[in-house]
Order: sequence, then C-alpha cells, then structure tokens
Amino acid sequence: MNPSPSTPAPLPGAPFLHYQDGQLMLEQLPLAELARQHGTPLFVYSKAAILAALAAYQRGLAGRQALVCYAMKANSSLAILKLLAEAGCGFDIVSAGELERALAVGAEPGKIVFSGVGKTRAEMRCALEVGVGCFNIESQAELDVLSEVATAGGHVAPISIRVNPNVDARTHPYISTGLKGNKFGIAHEQALAAYRHAATLPGLRVTGIDCHIGSQITESTPYLEAMDRVLDLVTAIEAAGIPIQHIDFGGGLGIDYNGDTPPAADLLWQQLLAKMDARGFGKRRILIEPGRSLVGNAGICLTEVLFLKPGEQKNFCIVDAAMNDLPRPALYEAFHRIVPLAEAAADAVTTTYDVVGPVCESGDWLGRDRALAVRQGELLAVLSAGAYCMSMASNYNTRPRAAELLVDGTSARVIRQRETLPDLWRAESV
Ligand code: LLP
Repeated sequence: MNPSPSTPAPLPGAPFLHYQDGQLMLEQLPLAELARQHGTPLFVYSKAAILAALAAYQRGLAGRQALVCYAMKANSSLAILKLLAEAGCGFDIVSAGELERALAVGAEPGKIVFSGVGKTRAEMRCALEVGVGCFNIESQAELDVLSEVATAGGHVAPISIRVNPNVDARTHPYISTGLKGNKFGIAHEQALAAYRHAATLPGLRVTGIDCHIGSQITESTPYLEAMDRVLDLVTAIEAAGIPIQHIDFGGGLGIDYNGDTPPAADLLWQQLLAKMDARGFGKRRILIEPGRSLVGNAGICLTEVLFLKPGEQKNFCIVDAAMNDLPRPALYEAFHRIVPLAEAAADAVTTTYDVVGPVCESGDWLGRDRALAVRQGELLAVLSAGAYCMSMASNYNTRPRAAELLVDGTSARVIRQRETLPDLWRAESV
C-alpha cells in the first residue's frame, strides 16, 4: 500500500484500486486477469486495505487498554478472520455458527464477545463451555435464562448489558439500532434496574457495559452523545455498588460508498477518548466491534456484462452478478460505485444504464442511472463490496455463491471456491 510516486491516484472509496495503463489494478494485480482466471462474479479483497483500516483503530486506541472485536457478520470468510486474528483482533459474534468460525481460525475464546437479541440456550451452552469473554445481554429475559443455563452447567457467565441510549445514528432505518423503537438493547432508563437484577442472579458476573447505535454512521455527534449516556450509566451503576470493568462501544463507523465522509477511526477515537478522559474514565478497558469499516472498502465484486438492452424509458446493462451476490442495493437501496476494469477511451460514447442482474425480480439491481461506456463481454467492478455482500449472499434462483480471492501485493489466493451445483442440493432429498 505504498504507492510509488508514479502510481496513479487511487479511486474514491477504494484506496487500494487504481488504473495503470488503462487497466484497473488491485494492489499490484490487473483485475481483468483475475476475472479471466477465476471467472465472475468474483469477490476480491485487498489484505493491505484491511490491515490499513485496522491500523487506524489501533492508532486511535494506542496506549489504552483496548481490544478490537471484529464484527464478523460483515464478512465471515475464514481467511479474513484469520488475518484479523493474527493482527490481534478478537471477535464480535452473534450465533453459534460465528463462534465456530472464530474457533476454527484459532481465536482466543476470551477475546470473543457474544452479541444478539435472540441467543438460544444451546448457543449459550456452547459459548459458556469454550469460555467466551463476555455475553452482551439484550433483555431482562435473557439475563434470567443465561443465569439458569450457566448455573446448570456449573459456569459463571461474564456479562455486560447492551443499553439502548435512544440516540439517532442518522443512518438507514434498517441499520439504526440505538433508538427506542428498535428491538436492540435495554432502554437506558431501565438499565440500572437490569444491572441490579443481574447482580442478584447466580451464575452471572457483571463485567461491563455495551452499546451499539447503528451502522454506516458518518458523523461523530451520535457517538459522542451515546458515550455521554453510557458514562452517565456507568456512574449510576457503580454508585449502586456494581463495578464496571469495561466499556464496549460497539461498531457502526461508516465508509465512503458515494462521497460519504465518515470521520477516520483514529480521529473519532481521539474525540471519544478526550471525552472519556475528561470524565475520568480514560483508564477503563475499551472494547469495540467494528465490522464494515474494517473490510467494506477493501473488497470489490467483479462481474461481466452479459447483454446491453436499450429501452424506451431505461437502458439496462445486464451483468452476471445479482442481488443474491450483492444484496445491499435490493435491501437498502444502497449505492455502490461501479467502474469498468478497462478504462474507456476518451471519445467512447457514454450511456446511462441501470446495472441489473439475471435474477427474476425487478428489485435485482446493482446500480441505477449509471453513466457507463461499456460493451457486451466487458468487465465491471462493483466497489465497497467487502462488507455485508458475501456474508449476506444467498442461493436464490439456484445461483451458486461466488468465489473469493485475497490479494497480497502481487499474489492472489483463492480463499473460497465458487460453489458447485451439487453443493447447493447436498442436504436435499427427493
Ligand atoms: N456490533 C453489533 C451489536 C452489531 O449489531 C453490528 C452490526 C456491529 C457491531 C457491526 O457494525 P458495523 O461496524 O459493521 O457497522 N447489513 C447491513 C448492516 C447491518 C449491521 C448489523 N449490525 C448493511 O449491509 O448495511
């Protein structure tokens, strides 16, 4: 990631992508070559970009007692988990499946936090047996059940309560989680009572407090407001005689999809730590759960133009990636930049297209009203596809999930093979 002075400027929102001699390169590899070798649709990730994103958090938290627990729901491919575990990360998990993924790459159980509103008893048992670092509890009922499960197994469960601070993260309603109307966390007005209750229950040991207000947050203000609410609560909970050892401040930091300007992770943490210091909480252990901001801009999806279909109202550019591969546009009307792998000639004719997939739904689009100079058979890259794309991919329309590559400088490694059709119906019977 150290471009030489002659390296052309990186693309917006993709610090590791640039055109060289008219070819889109990821780190030092021409992407068209990777598409030719491995087929499309194809996810490609930059190792350097992931580590650079992590380094911003590590800089921001340097000198503090802090642990970055990567929220693997953003991208749970084993090679990505392994990379982040080796770089010192713990993990934020939300299911027994994610727990097994973390263990499969050798994660230390003590560096795992278990979030989610609906943990089953079986999942609680698994997590207790391996000794996860903390359960982030989201309701009074969950406290009671975890107490029962832990006591029955002879365990003591370390817990924090996820408080809902009623702060507007000013993001898409589906990914805003810290408002009263959201299903997440315990309302901050009820949090003290929940902590008092937790302290009376056998099999539980209060260790921290937790808060996560949403995702794709592009301003500091909601974080600063939420931090104030959390610190007010820590003061009240400790005054009630319940010590709080760590503050888990969740994830949620946004990335640049379309000119978005979220604060850099280190600058955000400078502001948050200044607040913690000013209020006397600077020495408290800090956990964070970033997902998207570690991997989102480190990945792209390569796709081939199958057909161009001019229409009276719309022109369609039909590509071989679809909503099953990249569900974010269909789910949230999310914007992902789309660029050609071969730079168009200066005099090429540009047409406005809706870029759509082959799936039989009008909601199957990847980009709307995009100005592109493309021809049938050409390759495109959908940017900012490292987070919540492969991890949310499905087999709708009996489409095998794409392959994934991890690029490191001049080499690329297959980290997930393209699914085969027999993979798709292995569990079925007639
Ligand atoms: N911690 C908790 C408890 C969470 O619920 C989430 C995300 C994270 C951490 C990580 O948040 P991040 O740093 O990635 O924003 N599928 C949606 C995003 C859903 C986020 C769910 N929770 C999307 O594609 O935009």
